[in-house]
Amino acid sequence: MTIALYPGSFDPATMGHLDIAVRAAAIFEKVVVGVYDAPAKNVLFSTDERVELFSRSLEGVPNVEVLSFSGLTVDYAKSINAKVLVRGLRAISDFELEMQMALLNRKMSPGLEVVCFMTSIEYSFLSSSIVKEIASLGGCISGMVPNNVAQALEEKYRKLKDTASIPRYLTS
Ligand code: PNS
Repeated sequence: MTIALYPGSFDPATMGHLDIAVRAAAIFEKVVVGVYDAPAKNVLFSTDERVELFSRSLEGVPNVEVLSFSGLTVDYAKSINAKVLVRGLRAISDFELEMQMALLNRKMSPGLEVVCFMTSIEYSFLSSSIVKEIASLGGCISGMVPNNVAQALEEKYRKLKDTASIPRYLTS
C-alpha cells in the first residue's frame, strides 16, 4: 500500500488544501495529512484545532487521516511508512521554496519521493494568511475555506475582539 504524507501548517486549511488532499486521495491508497505542530510563523489556531478543522472538512474521504506531528517531516514520514510527500504548487513564487524543501528532504531521506500537485485554478490565489487577513477585517471568506473553517475563523476573531475590548486590568 502506498502511503503519502501531505505535511503543512494548515492554519487553517483552505479550499486549496482540501482540493489537494482529495486529489491525492484519488491517487494514493492512503493519505496522511500531517499538521506540523511548530511552524515558524505565528499560528492563529492550536495544533489540535488545526487537526480538528481539517479532519472535519475531509469527512467522507475514507482514505485520508489527519494527524499532528513534531520534528522533521522526513522522520515522521518514515515513522508512518510514507514513501511519498505531497505538496501543492500555486504559482512560480512557490516553486523556489518547494524545490529547496524537496531537495533537502531528499538529501535527508533519499527514498522519499516528493509529488507536487498543481493548484486548481479557482484556488490559485488562496493562502491561509490572506484568508485570515480578510476574516479578521470582517470580509466574506465564503468559498475560500470549508464552511466549518469559515465558522471557526469568525468565532476566533469575534473572541479575540471581545478580549481586546476588555480592560487589561480585568484579564491579567
Ligand atoms: O504549510 P507550510 O507552512 O508551507 O508547511 C511547511 C512544512 C510544515 C511542510 C515545513 O515547514 C516542514 O516540513 N516542517 C517540519 C520540520 C522540517 O522537516 N523542516 C525541514 C524542511 S526541509
